Amino acid sequence: MKPAEFSTRLLDWYVKHGRSLPWRGSPDPYAVLVSEYMAQQTRVETVIPYYLRWMEQFPTLQALAVAPLDAVLKAWEGLGYYARAHNLHRAARVVMTEYAGILPSNMEDLRRLPGVGDYTAAAVASLAFGADQAALDGNLRRVLARVTALPLDPRTPQGQRQLTDYARGLLPPGRAGDFNQALMDLSSLVCLPKKPRCSECPLTDFCRAYQENRQADFPVKVKK
Ligand code: ADE
Repeated sequence: MKPAEFSTRLLDWYVKHGRSLPWRGSPDPYAVLVSEYMAQQTRVETVIPYYLRWMEQFPTLQALAVAPLDAVLKAWEGLGYYARAHNLHRAARVVMTEYAGILPSNMEDLRRLPGVGDYTAAAVASLAFGADQAALDGNLRRVLARVTALPLDPRTPQGQRQLTDYARGLLPPGRAGDFNQALMDLSSLVCLPKKPRCSECPLTDFCRAYQENRQADFPVKVKK
C-alpha cells in the first residue's frame, strides 16, 4: 500500500462526509486550543454549544487570561472534569507571560502548557499550525489498530509507539491537520467501537481487520 493512496481515500471521504464543526477552518490557534481542551473527555456534539458560548465570553487568549477563575469555572459548568478548565485558564496565563501572548507552535513548548499531553500538543500543532504531527487519541488508535491488525494493546507504550510510527508514515505532508480530523470523524461516524460500519468506510482496501473479518478482535485489550 502506498501511503498516498491511504491518505487520498481518507481525505476524499473527509471532504464529502466530514463533520462541520465551529472551530474547523478557523485560523485562530486559540479556538483550536479551547476545542481540544473541551473535547479531551467530552463528546464533540456536547462540546459545540459550550465552545460557542465560551468564544463569545472569552474571545481571545488574553481575555481568558485576565478573566477571574470563578467566571471561567462558571462557563465550564456542565462539561465536568474541572481540572481542564483550571488548566486552560492557567495555560492562557502562561502564554501571556512566557510567550508574549502568542500560542507556541512547536510540540515541545505546547507540551509544557498545563493539561497538554502528547495528543493535545500534536492536535494543536497540526490543526492550528499545519505541523506534520499525528494526533492519536483512543479513537484513532482503535482505527489504526484495526487497519494494522495490531497484535498489541494500543494503550501500552509499545503499542502506542507502533501506531504513532505507522500514522507518521501515512501523513500527507502539509495536511496533517485534515488527516487527523478525518480520522477523528471516521472513528466517530464509521469505525465505531461496536458494530463498525465497514460498508461506509473508505479504508477497507487497507484494513487488515476488515479483510480478515476480525474487526471485533481489535483493538486488543490486555486486562489491567
Ligand atoms: N476530537 C477532538 N478534537 C476533534 C476535532 N478537531 N474534530 C473532531 N473530533 C475531535
